[in-house]
Amino acid sequence: MSCTFPQYSDTPIRPVPPVESTRAKHGARTLADLTTFGVGGPIGELVEATSEEEMKAAVARADAEGTPLLVVGGGSNILGSDAGFPGIVLRDLRTGIRVEREADCEGAIIWADAGLPWDQLVVHTIAHEWAGLEALSGIPGSVGAAPVQNIGAYGQEIAETIYRVRVYDREAGYVREIPAADMKFGYRTSLLKRTIGDRGPSPRYIVLSVGFQFRISNLSNPIAYGQLAGALGAKVGDRVPSVDVRAAVLEIRASKGMVLDDADRDTYSAGSFFTNPVIPVAEVDSLPAGAPRYPVYDGALYTLQSGAPVRKDVVKTSAAWLIDHAGFTRGYNMPGPAAVSTKHALALTNRGGATGAQVRALAREIQAGVREKFGITLQPEPVVLGGLGA
Ligand code: EPU
Repeated sequence: MSCTFPQYSDTPIRPVPPVESTRAKHGARTLADLTTFGVGGPIGELVEATSEEEMKAAVARADAEGTPLLVVGGGSNILGSDAGFPGIVLRDLRTGIRVEREADCEGAIIWADAGLPWDQLVVHTIAHEWAGLEALSGIPGSVGAAPVQNIGAYGQEIAETIYRVRVYDREAGYVREIPAADMKFGYRTSLLKRTIGDRGPSPRYIVLSVGFQFRISNLSNPIAYGQLAGALGAKVGDRVPSVDVRAAVLEIRASKGMVLDDADRDTYSAGSFFTNPVIPVAEVDSLPAGAPRYPVYDGALYTLQSGAPVRKDVVKTSAAWLIDHAGFTRGYNMPGPAAVSTKHALALTNRGGATGAQVRALAREIQAGVREKFGITLQPEPVVLGGLGA
């Protein structure tokens, strides 16, 4: 029997080292010390787990005591509150990667610990010629946080390569593996995110490790984002060396202030602060002509690239565009201490010493301005501890 993989290009692998995934400090005492935003008050207790047993024990103890639990990865998707977090903050310090099987035709199945910095996994997959994460280069955060919000960028989403997610189920009190088909992935959402409400701020299912299945190739998955194709001198649908995709994505992300850099205050943020609104087609006509319109995919096996059907009832537009055109352009409210990023209208930033209240006030002002102008209420994308307020 023959198979069409592996597929190779002769481009030598030039290692591109991992970028920073977190600003979290060991022994942190405040939310500010645990998050890329650098905002938020004192925490009750910090548990830094070095084994799956310690992870489970900390979660079980919090639940038995009725103590609020906050699991943090890179702290890159959290806006802290000035009141802090009086419960248990749990960090997973495990960073292992294990190969379950690897065969040319079938691809590779691998497992990564929840605590592994996301970009270290991306670098490892490119070096091993496992294709499918290259466009997700440079995203801050940890492996364990990635499936919760189905991280996505430049035409790829983690939902496309996840095979199973190993979790501790707080309701059942045991460990189980959730197959990708049961993960209810959607745009920036998953089964895990959908269960945050019950026991917030962390979900019912605490991620212990994530299983991936990759095609074996040093060529990327087909390019699915126009701006990326343009930067590579390629066309949408082309497959190019994964190392080149990584380099191009890192460059685009950095130009938008979306790669952590301590010298750049635009990166003291949680990335995109609002999700791109998904609106009923009946309301699309009320959008201004220039507002972008993107397809929304459907199906239990939700993926961008494997032929998931496009939904006919809804359309996605651009939160950045709406914010920009409601008058909150890049650098709005500079010099801060809370201001819109000078590089991207969708990122709120802490210019130094911003309080949670100041960031929330700015977020509410933008939300109200966009609602007034376009009749659309933007929804926060990060976990906003204590809510946005009134
Ligand atoms: N735009 C503006 N003003 C700006 C920036 C962008 O009007 O200052 C408009 C432009 O029309 C542009 C459009 O917004 O064409 C889209 O901008 P971009 O390509 O930067 O993507 P995005 O929709 O703002 C999403 C994700 C990002 C991801 C990028 C690239 C969400 C909420 N955000 O941003 O993810 O990196 O696409 O794929 O889905 C994140 O989730 O934290 C995140 C950074």
